[in-house]
Amino acid sequence: MSTGTDAMSADRHLYRITGGMPLKGEVKVSGAKNAITKQMVAALLTEEPVRIANVPRIVEVDLVVGMLQQLGATVDWTGRHEIRVEAGTIADSGLAERYTGANRIPILMMGPLLHRVGEAVIPLPGGCQIGKRPIDYHLDALRQMGAEVIEQPTAVHVRTTGLVGAHIELAFPSVGATENIVLAAVLARGTTVIHNAAIEPEIIDTILMLQKMGALIEVQTDRRIVIEGVKRLRGTGHTAITDRVEAASFAAAAVATGGSVEVIGARQTDLTGLINSLHRIGGGFAETPRGLAFYRARDLTAANIRTDVHPGLLTDWQQPLVLLLTQAKGASIVHETIYEDRFGYTEQLRQMGARIELNTACLVGDSCRFANRDHAHSAVVNGPTPLTGRDLEIPDLRAGFAFVLAALVAEGTSTISGTRYLERGYEDPVGKLTAMGGQVETAPVG
Ligand code: EPU
Repeated sequence: MSTGTDAMSADRHLYRITGGMPLKGEVKVSGAKNAITKQMVAALLTEEPVRIANVPRIVEVDLVVGMLQQLGATVDWTGRHEIRVEAGTIADSGLAERYTGANRIPILMMGPLLHRVGEAVIPLPGGCQIGKRPIDYHLDALRQMGAEVIEQPTAVHVRTTGLVGAHIELAFPSVGATENIVLAAVLARGTTVIHNAAIEPEIIDTILMLQKMGALIEVQTDRRIVIEGVKRLRGTGHTAITDRVEAASFAAAAVATGGSVEVIGARQTDLTGLINSLHRIGGGFAETPRGLAFYRARDLTAANIRTDVHPGLLTDWQQPLVLLLTQAKGASIVHETIYEDRFGYTEQLRQMGARIELNTACLVGDSCRFANRDHAHSAVVNGPTPLTGRDLEIPDLRAGFAFVLAALVAEGTSTISGTRYLERGYEDPVGKLTAMGGQVETAPVG
């Protein structure tokens, strides 16, 4: 039997991409992976059914379906993009070892499992290609809320006789830690205040779903989220927001290839930082009845970029923007402030002809947590440089789309492996790109 984790370890196919064609037409953006996978976890907080619509058909969702089923929940696809989760009983408080290193979702199950069965054994997410990604904020917060936390080499064991509200100050507005605390606090005794919380649109969307389930959550000014614990939560229905990373990927693709694409379902409110950057570089946008259209408005010129927590520029937009900047005239500087090691992918772009130099200094705007710590977290991109097609190996999801984009812009043909990473987060990327005129085909592995 194929398990969710098999899908992570092997490519189903390679992509063969021939560059030079401007992308034109329309593309429908899928639901937001980083909201929906958390909303599926939130469904564990009630015995009643939760229906989520706008769910993308991606490996990451399949993985979470497998996790919930293993814990004893019933999960059904009730439509092409609709899922129903019913966690009437929790059969297992421990998530299987095969999910070690799988993704960031298991650690969010600690709160729901503590409420439902009083304990949880969760395999560790592990580090990854983009940085160390520790979970100290998550564990400290649960300790403050009354959980006993036992750290083991490959798993974390938590137990409690009842979670209680607490005042939690996050050292950095971590998306995952904020979600973890919210999921633990909604059914805790008393009130929890998260200071310095993350307020990404995906978190707000999950909060909206929790409110429909009966939770009492207020998002206040100054990054404060106040959660008043309630006794029980009920089932609900929720249509998740669209994926602002996928939308941005197609927007960048339209501008980079000199094309014009209507991104159906793209929401300006979630993309303001990206639109500002595109504007500075030479991309244009227009509102359409169904979303936003993106196009190249003029010759591309260099721009400076600094990633940040929301409402700043999303770190997951950094990679397509860097690729775009390789095609812009002049020297651009990009300062990555969320992950210490998120420029590794640029080495392969250099081999295609890009001129990108990494630097350990904080080169744009205020210095960040990585100042004076010897992390190559700034990049200087000199352009425009023609790119030449070659064999590429995707190291992680977001670098993956930058490579696809590089191949679409390059002269000649590129063969891309590591497509399993891209397909964790993008639904039918080949179908969507070919429908816009991209010369993309799949090829057998090996
Ligand atoms: N951090 C800590 N300790 C913690 C938690 C976080 O030091 O306990 C640090 C991290 O090492 C990092 C920073 O805080 O330097 C921010 O990490 P955050 O917790 O915000 O990230 P995350 O929740 O692990 C989510 C998305 C990422 C996205 C970031 C930033 C999911 C599953 N992942 O990660 O998305 O880049 O927020 O917005 O929601 C992706 O989709 O490809 C992806 C990497």
